[in-house]
Parts: sequence; structure tokens; C-alpha cells
Amino acid sequence: MRRFFRPTWAEIDLGALVGNLRLLRKRVGPRVKIMFVVKANAYGHDAVLCALAAQKARAADWLGVSSVEEGLALRSAGVKLPVLVLGSLYPFESVLAAAAHDLTPIVASLESAKRVAEAALRLRRRIDIHVKVDTGMGRIGLRPEAALALIRNLSVLKGIRVQGILTHMAKAENDAAFTGRQLSAFKRVLKALDKEGLRPPLAHAANSAAALRQPASRFDMVRPGLAAYGLVEGFTPVLTLKSKIVYIKTAPRGATVSYGATWRAKRVSRIATLPIGYGDGYVRALSNRASVLVGGKRCPVVGRVTMDQTMIDVTGAPGARVGDDAVLIGRQDGAAVTAAELARHCGTIPYEIVTALTSRVPRVGAGR
Ligand SMILES: Cc1ncc(COP(=O)(O)O)c(C=O)c1O
Repeated sequence: MRRFFRPTWAEIDLGALVGNLRLLRKRVGPRVKIMFVVKANAYGHDAVLCALAAQKARAADWLGVSSVEEGLALRSAGVKLPVLVLGSLYPFESVLAAAAHDLTPIVASLESAKRVAEAALRLRRRIDIHVKVDTGMGRIGLRPEAALALIRNLSVLKGIRVQGILTHMAKAENDAAFTGRQLSAFKRVLKALDKEGLRPPLAHAANSAAALRQPASRFDMVRPGLAAYGLVEGFTPVLTLKSKIVYIKTAPRGATVSYGATWRAKRVSRIATLPIGYGDGYVRALSNRASVLVGGKRCPVVGRVTMDQTMIDVTGAPGARVGDDAVLIGRQDGAAVTAAELARHCGTIPYEIVTALTSRVPRVGAGR
């Protein structure tokens, strides 16, 4: 564990993480594999910590990352599970590094397929790939007809095996009709491939929302991120963002707090300072909006969040003193501040709140 003095850290409850993955497994059934998505440092939860916990508990079959770099970091930490690189392979030099470390690339164009074939020839080994089909996300991915044509072409190429085929859902959390159309397009491709004996062994499409809401989206494997981190109802939040009060003072009525003097005390107030700010990913948009838990009480953030420090009004938590724990995301004595709540304050989504946490915040594994 990294040594740190500044009392600001994120606790990662690995027991909760494994529990969430097991719950997902129960919901999708034993025949459907689980690709645990650990891109963007496991949505800010520490990819190495989370991947090793999932591997040890045999709670995931695959891992999903966004880049070769993210995959290499897992491999150097001893992660042995199959890893799919979900992002674009461009620039193609990364193919060799990916293949050398058993990272499975996604192919979404004839050009990238050719580069993988060249790498296979050079390394004198077969490279497994997954072909990405765009059924409505409009990001990387071949249109269904082009995907069919590519897989037909690849079936005669020696160095490549099409192990998987995937698509990605654009609106699974709130639009069953749109998702249904995406799934129909994907199924048509699979059916055509099946007819020609070319259906790859692993077809996958579902993010958390689709996996939980649309059983028809599960195919051979699901790719949860959000639910695994407990950021979906019914799952246990994995991350607790904590700090400690490092300073308290009494502000007279009329006193202002922080840059721009945007908050003014309407009464004599006790103002506590926490050593966390937007330099840690506790974003400035939370200024004068968010609450922080101290002694199980919700204490409002007052004034602007600064780069390194944030002030809260602890007048409503009379026992508060220097050294007390402050929970910025998570639970304390029955009270809770969720990533979803912070996201609403900022007009964004919980994904952005947790991935915003910077490397300055030590992640501490707990709960196992
Ligand atoms: C290709 C792909 N699959 C799966 C996921 C996981 O999605 P979620 O976190 O909503 O479960 C993502 C995340 O954005 C993704 O980009």
C-alpha cells in the first residue's frame, strides 16, 4: 500500500466488488461469461486492485480495458485473465505490444485486420481478435454488412482467429425499443454467420443496464462496469471517498468563505476545512451544492471548492472536531452521499464523478 500523510483517500471495498460480480453472475446465469470492465483505472477504483480481487475470487472470466497501456499495467501487476482492449487499435504499432502480452484487440476496419495479420506473421503465431459491429452507438465499429464481409474475408486468413464479435448499447438504461433495434441488427449478423459456419464463439453486447434489463442482450458474455462498482440500484457501492477535518474555526455572522466570497454566514457558524479539492477530482461544480458526512450528519459544502481544500459548515454537527472522518462519497452512521447525488449537482453522470478522482487520492483496498 502507498504511504500517505494527507488524510484524503478512497476506500475500495473489494468484498463488495466481488459480491456485486457474483450477484451479476447469478442474475445472468452460469452459462453467460462476465467481462468485468476495468477501463479508466476501474472507473477510478484502481484497476490493479479490482482486477486482482476479481481474479483471486474467480468472479470474472474476462477483463475489459480501453487501451493497450491499460492492459499492460494489468499484466505487469500479475493479472492473468483474458483481457480485451475495447478501444481503437490505432496507431497500429500497439498491435505487437498487445500480442506480446496476450491482450486481445478489437478489429473495426479492414485496415486494422490487415495490421493484425501482419503482426501475426511477424510473431509467427495466431492472434485472436473480436470484431466490433456498430448497431447504433455510432462510435468505432463496422456497419453490420461490412462486419459480415470482413469476417468472411478473415475466415481465410491464417494468422487471425475471430474469437469474438461485439456491439455496444447506446440507450439500454432508458430505451427498450432502441435497444431492441440494436439487438435485432446484431442478431441478424450472428444468424448470417451461423448459416455459413462462421459465428465466433463469443458474442457480446450488454453493458450493466442491458445485462440487467434485457435478457436477450446477454448472448455468450456480458460486460458490466457500473453494476460491478455498485453504482446501480440493488448493488453495493464499492468506493468510499474519505477525508478528515484538519482545521475548524468559528465564523461570525456575515463572514465569507473561499474564492469569490460566494458564501456568507447567515449566523455564527463553525467552518471546517478538508484537505481535498478539485486537484483530487472533487470537482469545483460541487461548490455550495454538495454535502459531506461528519458524525453521520450532512454538512453543506460552503464557498468554492479550491484546488486542494474544501470548506464545510459543521454547525449542525456540534461534536465535530479536528481529526474527525468526513465522508464525501459513501455511508457513515446510516447516512449516505452517493456518486449519483454528486452527479446531479454537476449535471453529469456517476461515471464521471468516480473517474474524475485523480492519482493524488490513494486507493486503499478494504473488506477482504
Ligand atoms: C464497450 C463497453 N462495454 C461495456 C461497458 C460497461 O458499461 P457500464 O459501466 O454501463 O456497465 C463500457 C463502458 O462504457 C464500454 O465502453
